[in-house]
Amino acid sequence: MSKPEFDQYAADYDRMLKEAMPSGLGESDYFAEYKVKLLARLLGGVAPRRVLDFGCGAGRSLPYLSQFFSGAECWGYDVSPESLKFAAQAAPRARLSCDWDVIEQQQFDVIFAANVFHHIVPADRVGALERCRRLLAPGGKLFLFEHNPFNPLTRRVFERCPFDADAEMFSLGQAREMSRQAGFSQETHGYTLFFPKPLAWLRGLEPLLTRLPLGAQYYVQMAS
Ligand SMILES: C[S@@+](CC[C@H](N)C(=O)[O-])C[C@H]1O[C@@H](n2cnc3c(N)ncnc32)[C@H](O)[C@@H]1O
Repeated sequence: MSKPEFDQYAADYDRMLKEAMPSGLGESDYFAEYKVKLLARLLGGVAPRRVLDFGCGAGRSLPYLSQFFSGAECWGYDVSPESLKFAAQAAPRARLSCDWDVIEQQQFDVIFAANVFHHIVPADRVGALERCRRLLAPGGKLFLFEHNPFNPLTRRVFERCPFDADAEMFSLGQAREMSRQAGFSQETHGYTLFFPKPLAWLRGLEPLLTRLPLGAQYYVQMAS
């Protein structure tokens, strides 16, 4: 069996991401924190007991998930065991596994999937969402964050990133349709990441802009 694709990128993931970003746009850590902050805002103060970072990779978001949800048990799942070695260093207290049978034993209040689904072949995406849906505790929510293919800067970074060579972006409309097909009955969504770090002071405007298809990313919040 061939190795998971991201095993080959695990050691250089941060460097590749940094090199793909136009200079001055902000560090990749800023973008990871930004998404977790938005997740906390969307949860409206509700403290999850157990959170899964689905496709956690080298653990870029896990330290922020642990920080923002300090009372929660944080889990990370990824198909790439090499990436999980780096995630273990980034978030020593997180529970990590590349074995779905282990993850399946748990129920999660929040499942967070950041920039994972464009690496899953289109035919398998709804199935992967369905598998996540089955792990949600009653009232639990899945938050999908994805690149907005209509944003020119996003396209530029995507085209320059070696690990995106085989990936395929999809639109917010397609993500919403996938949510429906995966059996989620409730869904809210919006565009996000309008402001790079130098313009972080404008972030307060973001809730007014969520309908504008110009954000670098979008999110879909799904629940049953
Ligand atoms: C671009 S990285 C994103 C990693 C992390 N979520 C982040 O924001 O830095 C995509 C990750 O998705 C993982 N991945 C790809 N297919 C997957 C699948 N079917 N299930 C879980 N993870 C998957 C890859 O191994 C890789 O670590």
